[in-house]
Amino acid sequence: MLIHPIVADPVIDFAEDVCSGLCKPGQKELPSKYLYDEIGSRLFEVICALPEYGLTRADERLLRKHAREIVDRVRGEVVVAELGSGSGKKTRWILEALSRHRPTSYYPIEISATALAMCERELADIDAVSIVGCEREYLDGLLEVAARRLRGQRMLVLFLGSTIGNFDRPADVSFLREMRLILEPGDALLLGTDLEKPVLQLIDAYDDPLGVTAAFNLNLLTRINRELNADFNLARFEHVSRFNPDTRSVEMHLRSTRHQIVTLGKAGISVPILEDETIWTETSHKYSLNEVVSMSEEAGFRCDAQWIDHEWPFAENLLIAE
Ligand code: TRP
Repeated sequence: MLIHPIVADPVIDFAEDVCSGLCKPGQKELPSKYLYDEIGSRLFEVICALPEYGLTRADERLLRKHAREIVDRVRGEVVVAELGSGSGKKTRWILEALSRHRPTSYYPIEISATALAMCERELADIDAVSIVGCEREYLDGLLEVAARRLRGQRMLVLFLGSTIGNFDRPADVSFLREMRLILEPGDALLLGTDLEKPVLQLIDAYDDPLGVTAAFNLNLLTRINRELNADFNLARFEHVSRFNPDTRSVEMHLRSTRHQIVTLGKAGISVPILEDETIWTETSHKYSLNEVVSMSEEAGFRCDAQWIDHEWPFAENLLIAE
């Protein structure tokens, strides 16, 4: 069932974020949230199907297998808010388990209109669930959903796919804390976390031989060309994925293969980029199980249960707001 969507607020200032990221002294960077335009969202769906990228399949396996047990730990009538729903495929298991015995509202929160549309299509057939798409940044969307909850309803926030790992440490804890401030004691957060695994496996997962991940990363430059009237020459950049042992994270960069000057027409600036200089586009932290427990506690949650996939080390963690 699809009810009217909550439509996006004013346009995010893409130009300003791109300018400040490219003009940053030292390491240039671009915010990863901009990877998900229409092409990017579709490429990401393909990444999720790649044999080298086991993360999404592990996430889905756990949800499929344990959905019943997960929702049984959250009492009462439940309002589900999902941060970054993507296509919504994995969420089906949770929504079906929940709506079997109680009325369920589902608010996917997404900045990508394409992902939101995919998600609404994907889940529209679950009759007992009302879906209200929310085209917002995560915390703005969560505030909006919290404001709509009725007395006595519990919130179950889904933050799957290890998106938490895309925050730097300790920004991940701060983000959990901000979520906690919006929630009430007893509300639940189901948090997906990718766990540590051998470095070569990680490098392959983020640099597949078919080049889908490279295309996904480079697509950010085509988006900037299109939307900000810029002149990035894609042939002069290459995708790089590297493991940083100090932060235990995979870093994605775009490396300039020669010295060049890129002009951003809409912003009226030109940016010199050196040969071998990189633009940092994404970080993906890998966690240990204990670390997830302590990080949750620091943010004001209690870790109620953890479900682990051993084929592709990954954990689903059920956190309860204290
Ligand atoms: N952020 C996701 C992750 O950490 C998505 C992702 C997969 C990604 N491959 C990527 C982001 C390559 C940037 C570049 O797994």
